[in-house]
Amino acid sequence: MPEAPSYDYKTVQVGFEDGIAWVTLNRPEKRNAVSAEMATEMVDVVDKLEIDDRCQVFVLTGAGESFCAGMDLRDYFRSSDADTAVKRARLYRTNGTWQWRRLLNYPKPTIAMVNGWCFGGAFTPVIACDIAVAADEATFGLSEINWGIIPAGIVSKALSTVVRQREALYYVMTGETFDGKRAAQIGMVTESVPLAHLRQRTVEIARVLMKKNPNVLRQAKTAFKYAAEMPWDAAGEYLMAKSDQTTFNDPERGREKGMGQFLDEKSYKPGLAPYRRDD
Ligand code: COA
Repeated sequence: MPEAPSYDYKTVQVGFEDGIAWVTLNRPEKRNAVSAEMATEMVDVVDKLEIDDRCQVFVLTGAGESFCAGMDLRDYFRSSDADTAVKRARLYRTNGTWQWRRLLNYPKPTIAMVNGWCFGGAFTPVIACDIAVAADEATFGLSEINWGIIPAGIVSKALSTVVRQREALYYVMTGETFDGKRAAQIGMVTESVPLAHLRQRTVEIARVLMKKNPNVLRQAKTAFKYAAEMPWDAAGEYLMAKSDQTTFNDPERGREKGMGQFLDEKSYKPGLAPYRRDD
C-alpha cells in the first residue's frame, strides 16, 4: 500500500473524519488572513487531497472565531509593493491557484463552512466552493473600499457569479458588513444556521453528497459551471457530450443501476433518493 501523504503545515490544519477532509485555515492570531506561506501551503493541500481517498468531501473553514480576514495586508500589499511586476504576478498567481483555479472545478465536492469573519479575498474561495454554509453570526464584508483599494484579485468577478448587481455593488461601494443570514439572502452562501449547529449541518450535507455516485457528482458540477458561461446551442452540445462521457467513464455504471432499480425492480424512487450503490 502506498504511504498516506503527510499534511504537516504551519498555517493550515488538515484532519479526516468519516470521508470528510476538514481543511482549516490556521492563523487565528491573524484572523486566518491569507499569507504568502498559507497560499503556498494551500496549493499543496488541494493537490494532495485531490487523490487522497480519505477525502470524499472537502470542507474549508477557519480556526477560532474567524473564517478568514482576507489577504494578509503585509504580504500581499506592503511588502510586495516594491517587487517587480513579474514577482507580484507570481505571488497572486499562487494564491489564485488554490482560491479559484483549482477549487472552482475541484474533482471532489467542496463546502465552505464560514464560521466567523470573512473579508475581501476570503470571498473568493467561499464562492469557488460548490456549497457554502455560514453561521448566522458570521460577519462578511468587502472592506477594500475602506482602505482605498478595489475588490481585486478576482473578488469582483467571483461576486458577480453569485450575487445580483444591486446587492453586489451596494456592498462593494459601501463596505458595509453583513451577517450569515443576509449572505444567504443575497446568494453569497447557500444557507446560514446558528453557529452552534454549523458543523453538524455541514456534516449532514457532506453525508448526502457521499451517498451519490462520485463520478457523476464530479461531472455534474463541472458541467454546470462550464455550461453557465456558454451560449445555449454550445451548452446543449457540450452537455450531451459530457453526459455521454459521464456514462462511458462511470466505473459504477450508475445509469444502468439507477434505471434497473426503478423501472425493473421498482425498489426505489429516484425523485426521492439515490439508487443503492452497493448492488
Ligand atoms: N492582514 C494582515 N493582518 C491582519 C489582517 C489582514 N487582512 N486581518 C487581521 N490581521 C491582524 C491584525 O493586524 C492583528 O495583528 P497584531 O496582533 O499583530 O496587531 C491581528 O490580526 C488581530 O487582528 P485584530 O484587528 O486585532 O482583530 P479583531 O478581532 O479586533 O478584528 C477584523 C478582526 C477581521 C475585523 C480586523 O482584523 C480587520 O478589519 N482585518 C482586516 C480585514 C480586511 O480588510 N481584509 C481584506 C483584505 S483584502
